[in-house]
Amino acid sequence: MKHAYDHYLSQTAKELQPSGIRKFFDLAATMEGVISLGVGEPDFITPWSIREATILSLEQGYTSYTANAGLLELREEITNYLATRFGVQYDPNNQIIVTIGASQAIDLAFRAILNQGDEVLIVEPAFVSYAPLVAIAGGKPIPVSTSAANGFKVTAEQIEAAITEKTKAILICSPNNPTGSMLTKDDLMELTTVINKHDLLVVSDEIYAELSYNGDFCSVAAMEGMYERTILINGFSKGFAMTGWRLGFLAAPKEIAACMLKIHQYTTMCAPIMLQRGALEALRNTYHEVESMRNSYRRRRNYMVQTLNQLGLECHTPGGAFYVFPSIRSTGLSSEQFAEELLVQEKVAVVPGHVFGESGEGYIRCSYATSMEQLQEAMRRIKHFIETRKKVLCPTAAQSTIQS
Ligand SMILES: Cc1ncc(COP(=O)(O)O)c(C=O)c1O
Repeated sequence: MKHAYDHYLSQTAKELQPSGIRKFFDLAATMEGVISLGVGEPDFITPWSIREATILSLEQGYTSYTANAGLLELREEITNYLATRFGVQYDPNNQIIVTIGASQAIDLAFRAILNQGDEVLIVEPAFVSYAPLVAIAGGKPIPVSTSAANGFKVTAEQIEAAITEKTKAILICSPNNPTGSMLTKDDLMELTTVINKHDLLVVSDEIYAELSYNGDFCSVAAMEGMYERTILINGFSKGFAMTGWRLGFLAAPKEIAACMLKIHQYTTMCAPIMLQRGALEALRNTYHEVESMRNSYRRRRNYMVQTLNQLGLECHTPGGAFYVFPSIRSTGLSSEQFAEELLVQEKVAVVPGHVFGESGEGYIRCSYATSMEQLQEAMRRIKHFIETRKKVLCPTAAQSTIQS
């Protein structure tokens, strides 16, 4: 039906699809007793000393704008952090921008580099904002599908096959949302050869860098030949349990950073000063808390992977982030049906894999950033859901499986 406002609205905005994650989240919010494995958000509260530093900064009257790129003190601390944790050296004066979450950094990156029709390769399954943000910036998102057989890792051949003369950049997210897959140094080495050969830029979403369980996280910018072509994106949301603070940052070659800063200064001005002061405390004094959260996620990951496999939902062991991405093909349901029926029948909210791209069909994303008790209860309900379904489909076979 043609809407009265149709001719006022931008074609690009009209064509955007609402996020598939929100749909399930909103539905779950209308029901009681739902266990949500749907949202990608730490169940921990931001460490106290970060909150305290922010409260103190308000008491001390820190209420003004900051430099567009953020407090120099914070940019210096971010520079230290990137150098000591990931071995990449930046200049705080002209290579770092403090943003409103990694979300804004991704938006800035695409706006700064894309001309109309430029193509961006997006390794799928992928976080839901990438393709819409490419489209908003006038570019064309080109999906490159990965599969469980390859641990959801993209290969150099796949990238090479997707490149055209219009390809400007590739978006890489490791550790990955939704699959949890990690690209090791060796994996990246293979990819960078093609990226260099075709002179592409990389938008590297490293928001889950602190949540790498085998300690083998490697920043794309640290790889040989990649520093000059990488826009590194990171932030405080996940590792430091600061989602609601909306604080992220980016690091890039000077010319690209300068271009992004122009857009940032007109659209955003700067991130809130009191939160930037809290972030200073995060980078200076809270690694022990980040580590303790990481250890807790690791225990939950191990539990989830083991239990899902026991239930017949084949699940690879993710190297990072806080998601598992099990296959639900054995149930004969599509991911949308599985997620919907599970929510209605057992009150467990998960995200159907197809919202992360076509290659996510046949999978569901479960976030394990929730308490162990909740996870155990969710697994009991999923077990019940699967057993009930088996009984309906094949009463005698189900009987023997359940008894065994
Ligand atoms: C892969 C990925 N990138 C970026 C973001 C956005 O992070 P922020 O809260 O810093 O905007 C998320 C949030 O879920 C994410 O999963």
